[in-house]
Amino acid sequence: MNYHIMTLFPDMIDMAAHTSIMGRAIANGSISLNIYNIRDYTLNKNKRVDDYTYGGGAGMLMQAQPIYDCYRAVCENIYKANPEVSGKKIRTVYLTPQAKVFNQGMAMEMSDEEDIIFLCGHYEGVDERVLEEIVTDYISIGDYVLTGGELPALIIMDAISRMVPGVLGNDESAKTESFDNGLLEYPQYSRPEEWMGKRVPDVLLSGHHANIEKWRRTQSELRTKERRPDLYEKYLATKETV
Ligand code: ADE
Repeated sequence: MNYHIMTLFPDMIDMAAHTSIMGRAIANGSISLNIYNIRDYTLNKNKRVDDYTYGGGAGMLMQAQPIYDCYRAVCENIYKANPEVSGKKIRTVYLTPQAKVFNQGMAMEMSDEEDIIFLCGHYEGVDERVLEEIVTDYISIGDYVLTGGELPALIIMDAISRMVPGVLGNDESAKTESFDNGLLEYPQYSRPEEWMGKRVPDVLLSGHHANIEKWRRTQSELRTKERRPDLYEKYLATKETV
C-alpha cells in the first residue's frame, strides 16, 4: 500500500504517520508514504496557492493550478515506480465534510488498492474545477467541520493500514474487533483479577471457551444496543435475513 499525500502542511502528516503502528509499518515496508507540498508547485512568484472566491463570500480558496501540477507529479512518480499501472487513473480521495461518512467497510475495500492519493484542502475549500478533474472519491470523517483535510487523511490511512497484511503483528489481529460482525466489541480485562473492588467476570476465568464466546457475544449485543442503537437495528435486520 503506497499513500501519496498532497498538503500545505507536510509536517503534520510526517510527524503523526511516523509514530506508533503506522511508523513501524513504514519502517518494515508494509506501507509507504510520499508527502507532497502543494506550495512547491505554484507558478505564483510569491508562492501563493489561494485567492478570493468568485461571487464573494468570506475566506480564501485553494487554486486549481498548484493542486493540478502537484497531482501530475504524483501520478508520474507512481507510474515510474510501477510501470504496470502507467496511464491508469489512481484512486484520489478529497477530504471534505460534504461527502459520505467513512466507515470500516470503506477501509476494508480501500485496503485492496496499491496506491491512494489524498488531497488535503485548507482555507474555505478548493476550486471545484480541479476536483472534477482529479478526484475519484469524496470522503468525510463525520458531521463537523475541521480546519483542514490532514487529520481526516491520517485517520483514514490509519484505518486502512490495519487491514494491510504485515501491518499488525500476530497478536494484534485486525479481525474480531468492533464492526467486523456489525457489533461493538465486548469489554475486556487484564490482570489483576480484582481491582478497586471490581472482579473480572467469573466466566472469563473459567477456561470454558464456548461459554466465554457466548458471554462475549451477549456483551457485544448489549453494548451495541445501548451505545449505538442505529448499528443494533442494522445488526438485527441482517440477522433476521440469514
Ligand atoms: N475537512 C474539514 N472537515 C472535514 C471532515 N469532517 N471530514 C473530512 N474532511 C474535512
